[in-house]
Amino acid sequence: TVSFINPLGEEVIIEEKAYQAYLGLKKDLEKEGAYIGLDGALRTHKRQEEIAEDFLEKYGADYVAKIVAKPGYSEHHSGLALDLYLIVDGKNIINNEDLVQYPKVWEKVHQKLAEYGFILRYPKHKEHITGYAYEPWHIRYIDDSEIAKEIMEKGLTLEEYLKEAADVKPSIDLGNSYLYGKDELAEMIVLIKCLPVSRDVSFTVLLMPEMMSVLMKT
Ligand code: DAL
Ligand code: ZN
Repeated sequence: TVSFINPLGEEVIIEEKAYQAYLGLKKDLEKEGAYIGLDGALRTHKRQEEIAEDFLEKYGADYVAKIVAKPGYSEHHSGLALDLYLIVDGKNIINNEDLVQYPKVWEKVHQKLAEYGFILRYPKHKEHITGYAYEPWHIRYIDDSEIAKEIMEKGLTLEEYLKEAADVKPSIDLGNSYLYGKDELAEMIVLIKCLPVSRDVSFTVLLMPEMMSVLMKT
């Protein structure tokens, strides 16, 4: 991670690669006359709790339920989720209720996200899938602009995109091979689960019987 104090005077901690991508996005948007800032990225559980408490006081329980993840369940804990603010006519637009007043600016921002490996994480009309209200400011770094483009162009949520992978049922031939060590097999299990997400591949993996229990748990 990298950390810095943003122009609002807040400390921002963020995964380094996501930060570099953000800087590229920001610079590119400036050419289009859209100005963004980084309000926050990585959050501790404690910070998530504080936000929930602040929002409860400010907006009430219904709003909190729609917009604040439970501590421990926010993707902000990963350092890969970013909350943007806007600078419009030289003025910082920070609060949620103000940010939603600028749909044209967000349109420009959202159009550029995928090129830099970001997706809009909580899109409009997908609340029933993501579990959260539309958050034009909350973007998620996924480190692959091709996948990001696919998600954004198809108007998918990350949930919908990943479901394709979850629906892949690898066929497993136990065979008799003892060629691979446990570490190698553990790595392959990760591959079985991850590869179909991004690539149209089929492959065969031979597993030792004792590894089946590991596979069942993953
Ligand atoms: N606002 C998003 C859902 C979070 O709290 O992580
Ligand atoms: Zn957020």
